[in-house]
Amino acid sequence: MTAHLNVRGDVAVLVPAAGMGIRLGPGGPKALRLLRGDPLLVHAVRRVAAAPSVGCIVVAAPADSVDFVASLLAPIADVTVVAGGATRQASVSAALAAVPAAFDIVLVHDAARALTPPELVETVASAVRGGHGAVIPVLPVVDTIKQVDISGVVLTTVDRSALRAVQTPQGFRRDVLVKAHEAAIDDHTDDAGMAEKLGVEVHTVPGSEAALKITRPFDLAVAELLL
Ligand code: CTP
Ligand code: MG
Repeated sequence: MTAHLNVRGDVAVLVPAAGMGIRLGPGGPKALRLLRGDPLLVHAVRRVAAAPSVGCIVVAAPADSVDFVASLLAPIADVTVVAGGATRQASVSAALAAVPAAFDIVLVHDAARALTPPELVETVASAVRGGHGAVIPVLPVVDTIKQVDISGVVLTTVDRSALRAVQTPQGFRRDVLVKAHEAAIDDHTDDAGMAEKLGVEVHTVPGSEAALKITRPFDLAVAELLL
């Protein structure tokens, strides 16, 4: 997976990669941390670019690293790099503004889900192409979930059969994502949550264990083992 990929599909993918990686501990922006010698963002973009549906990739990089990130990704695929914002939502908005008008399907994919297989990108893109305005990949919740009060005492056990853990890429008809970002007031960690608030039906597709989000040092160790 080292050759340059010329992306040519009908789907634009936004890759928010401007976070600081605080929970990963000291060491700079998370998307630029190394996993087996390559930055997480390089792993993520390689896999996105390998999905045949993808025709445009816009990365939101830390504001002081835009040129560096552009040079890092140039050998991998045709990528537009913009400066991200103070929140994930601001970074996604900045990337969305850089998508050419021709793209009617837009996916949003965290750089932190660096090992997401191209097949998941295809599954989400196909579901949007098939007529869903908003699509998210989900996995069943395996742990028992309890709701607790502020002192940590259990209030109730939640029925997990109706719960799902949500991943990225999340896919949208472009107009849905644009409206969601225009309407959003409070900060959302998830784009589909904003679409939900607009009353858009959010469709689910099966997620992938490999699309795990690298958040804490343990996750980075798991990702190393998976590679
Ligand atoms: N992100 C972004 N701009 C921000 C904050 C986050 O583009 N201002 C991106 C991250 O780079 C990441 C994705 O959003 O790819 C999911 O965010 P998260 O996993 O929380 O990453 P960080 O914000 O970097 O981590 P932390 O919250 O531990 O600082
Ligand atoms: Mg964060």
